[in-house]
Amino acid sequence: MPPASHFATCPRGLEALLETELAAAGAQVVRQVPAGVLFMADAAAEMRVNLTSRIATRILRKVGFTRYRKEEHIYRAALDLPWPDWFDVKKTIAVKVGAQNAPLKSLNFITLKIKDAICDRFREETHERPSVDPSAPDVPVYAFFTTDAVTFYLDTSGEPLFKRGFKREASAASLKENLAAGLLLLSGWEPGTPLLDPMCGAGTILLEAADMALNRAPGRGRHFAFEHYRDFDAALWKRIKAEAQAQEKPLTRLPIFGADQDRWVLDKARNNLAAAGYADAIELNVSDVLDLKAPTPVGTLVTNPPYGERLGEAEDLAEWYPLLGDWLKQNFSGWEAWVISGDPLLPKLLGLKASRRIPLFNGPIETRFLQYKIVAGTMRPDKPAKLVS
Ligand SMILES: C[S@@+](CC[C@H](N)C(=O)[O-])C[C@H]1O[C@@H](n2cnc3c(N)ncnc32)[C@H](O)[C@@H]1O
Repeated sequence: MPPASHFATCPRGLEALLETELAAAGAQVVRQVPAGVLFMADAAAEMRVNLTSRIATRILRKVGFTRYRKEEHIYRAALDLPWPDWFDVKKTIAVKVGAQNAPLKSLNFITLKIKDAICDRFREETHERPSVDPSAPDVPVYAFFTTDAVTFYLDTSGEPLFKRGFKREASAASLKENLAAGLLLLSGWEPGTPLLDPMCGAGTILLEAADMALNRAPGRGRHFAFEHYRDFDAALWKRIKAEAQAQEKPLTRLPIFGADQDRWVLDKARNNLAAAGYADAIELNVSDVLDLKAPTPVGTLVTNPPYGERLGEAEDLAEWYPLLGDWLKQNFSGWEAWVISGDPLLPKLLGLKASRRIPLFNGPIETRFLQYKIVAGTMRPDKPAKLVS
């Protein structure tokens, strides 16, 4: 495949990290846009990006672009594309669309029209049509509409890339793996520095940290949609996986620590870490956060405490956050603490001064990722902030 235009999607706020990863994987970055990066990639770079990106959600290969004025133009534009050149009729398909300021009456209707056009094009050429599998298609097709143009993409990832491929038990409040990886990269944590997530839930941050520490490709345990395309080069793919494997460090005990008060949730973390091969590499403890002591004199704490999306929790949390702040001050001098919160007011109740506040999106929720440098004798402000709306 000669270098082709691609678009990588990611959680908003992580575009710069994604750009760095894409360049490291051999892609030529064109530019960042909100929640994604445009880039050029040949077959090798497309595979490497899918395999190694910790931040991307999907890697889309551009296969068509047309201006449109009327909805009828869209069926024609999709029919004109040589779909049978790209994949076999025996592959299952699904079409998804996205739109920004597009003058379309119904996205569902347009989705059906594009699916019909793909099937009609196959019928014209092969007298057969591909089947549709909305939940797990071999070939996910994506169309993105703006005011007057549509871009067609083959999704080369398939399942979103935050699904790393290991058996995974999420808790209700689990972070997506690519956001967890983003937090670690934004924090500047370096493997080798002790890391603690004292409210680790199902262990997402810990698992991403272990992968980074051992230089393991996040996609090593899964398949990708590009394996279904006609131009898939199995020998090249084997080489790229072998290259990535050769960079891995041997498994040892890691200075990565996790805890949670909920025994049941911590069991999930244990199972998740075991499925990825980290059963003995990371220390987990059932504990209320306020009973924990720093495991080492210096280190980095990265955590996603509860921030109360449910009614009635806000008042309890408003009493608890000051205790959390005191706990940090009393036990973690010399540490750097990073807290992600979807609530703008609760972190103020920690009584610590944030030295950095990074805006990030956790799906649709706007969050802040806050850095606190804990030094001995860090004082609370005279008047703790009140929870007022
Ligand atoms: C938002 S979830 C963290 C999710 C986690 N990052 C993941 O990806 O699975 C918050 C976690 O804090 C834990 N937690 C709440 N209060 C706690 C406390 N006082 N001590 C320890 N853990 C607590 C909850 O059990 C829950 O697992």
